[in-house]
Amino acid sequence: MSDETIRFDLPQSAIPTRWYNIQADLPRPLPPVLHPATYKPVGPEDLAPLFPKALIEQEVSTERFIEIPEEVREIYKLWRPTPLIRARRLEKALDTPAHIYFKYEGGSPSGSHKLNTAVPQAYYNKLEGVQGLTTETGAGQWGTALSIATSFFDLECIVYMVKVSYQQKPYRRAIIQSFGANVTPSPSDTTEAGRRFLAEDPDSTGSLGMAISEAVEVAVTSGGKYKYALGSVLNHVLMHQTVIGQEALLQLRRADAYPDVVIGCTGGGSNFAGIAFPFIRNNLNHGTNTRIVAVEPAACPTLTRGSYTYDYGDTAGMAPVVKMHTLGASFVPAPLHAGGLRYHGMASIISELLDQDLIEALALPQLEVFGAALKFLRSEGIVPAPEPSHAIAAVIREALAAKEAGEKRTILFNLCGHGHFDMAAYDAYNRGELSDYEYPQEAIDAAMAKVPQIEGQPKVVRRPAPAPVEEIRSEDPVAALEETAPEEAPGGEEAPGGEEAPGGVESGGETEAFVVPDAVTPGGEAPAVPAIDVPLVPAVEAPGIPSLDVPGVDAPVVPGFGEDPIDS
Ligand SMILES: Cc1ncc(COP(=O)(O)O)c(C=O)c1O
Repeated sequence: MSDETIRFDLPQSAIPTRWYNIQADLPRPLPPVLHPATYKPVGPEDLAPLFPKALIEQEVSTERFIEIPEEVREIYKLWRPTPLIRARRLEKALDTPAHIYFKYEGGSPSGSHKLNTAVPQAYYNKLEGVQGLTTETGAGQWGTALSIATSFFDLECIVYMVKVSYQQKPYRRAIIQSFGANVTPSPSDTTEAGRRFLAEDPDSTGSLGMAISEAVEVAVTSGGKYKYALGSVLNHVLMHQTVIGQEALLQLRRADAYPDVVIGCTGGGSNFAGIAFPFIRNNLNHGTNTRIVAVEPAACPTLTRGSYTYDYGDTAGMAPVVKMHTLGASFVPAPLHAGGLRYHGMASIISELLDQDLIEALALPQLEVFGAALKFLRSEGIVPAPEPSHAIAAVIREALAAKEAGEKRTILFNLCGHGHFDMAAYDAYNRGELSDYEYPQEAIDAAMAKVPQIEGQPKVVRRPAPAPVEEIRSEDPVAALEETAPEEAPGGEEAPGGEEAPGGVESGGETEAFVVPDAVTPGGEAPAVPAIDVPLVPAVEAPGIPSLDVPGVDAPVVPGFGEDPIDS
């Protein structure tokens, strides 16, 4: 056995004590969220029927860090810190000089990153004294996570599950029910919105937008008994996921590495935010130059082909109107798309980051995605969910581009969930029953015609096709893998490649040092632009000097120098 380390674990004392709120560092503040009936900016009172006060405060807060309650950290201990793994066998299979690291969130009790936000959402609702939570779920990952979290806090849980998933994923449904939740296929006749959808199309297979409408309706008509929980998209949800990237920063330091590129898949944006935001913070405030890539399906190309405009978060137009990248709230995903990531919109923060050119976006076809998933699982032994398989396909492209360029490149991605309940999709792929599918422009145009007309805002604002940031090999990157089977690759050898700068950050520039959360300028860093407008509600109390609860972590860090804060 070689003495090369491929798995970087942290002690439980390294579970982050604070979530990172990127709203503190956005060069331009987020556009206001509008009321669905008046199209006027919403205030906290408008959101109160949906969310508890603490989460409304987090939604609009511009404090850089928000303390994680002790009760939540205690539950995080069930699966956090999650491992950072170097995909050494995949690197060898690709014969690439790139170093590939992934954060593995699939080992959580729910099987994905979603539990990172389900637990605090249940916690704050319990504090406020609500009786239960309503929600929607597509593939079932979020419904599973929320049913676990509500059972921990003794709350009721009402789940509207997109009908096609309800029918095709009986075991996800059974898990959610085992945790005590009530699951209804959506659209249903239990809500006014559902009855309207069924009147329009009795055979509707449902969509996340429809299920959200039903869950929101039950919460707002419950007289305060139920509130609503969303598993992605919202600012506070994205913020809860930043425990992933904060841990990754510490783990990469142990690996003496720093990413040249960070890659995550995007449905509503939460797992991508979790891995990427702490690195975007370093780009904005600490001089690093990491590329940040969001990957989506060609069948639901929200970031690459959607408009950045105001739209409803749900199909019935009950949820707030948000400026976001959207394909139109009436979007219904093609049934032949098996890869998840089917929401019509995108988190406002992610949309804004793309608009400010702080991240890149890439849409990939599903055959490449499933091909990449098979290559990954045969190398690393983990069956990835179809969603993060989009990230894996992009990682493979990146690693092959590094090989072509003869560059050592450090790649980090988020393996945000396992695919044990997605085997029907794998089965279809293995039998050759899947095909590529690009969402048709006419369908986008038809859905976009229905987005609300907001005064002074154009309805359709397409982003120009992104200039290729990276030359991608013209050959099929997955087929190229066939050249080297994983089992043929010898173990333990260093891949060929260029000299590694300390921490993988460009040497020769100003970016030698990298930063674990607040390691460089504790408490003293100024945002790039003046503070954002006064928040709608009082900001959450400012945390003091940041600390990661790991001895020595507050000290300035240059990778490769000084003590390892974890071992010391
Ligand atoms: C495993 C997994 N990854 C990714 C997603 C997409 O959501 P998000 O973009 O919020 O991470 C989902 C959605 O349910 C999921 O279950």
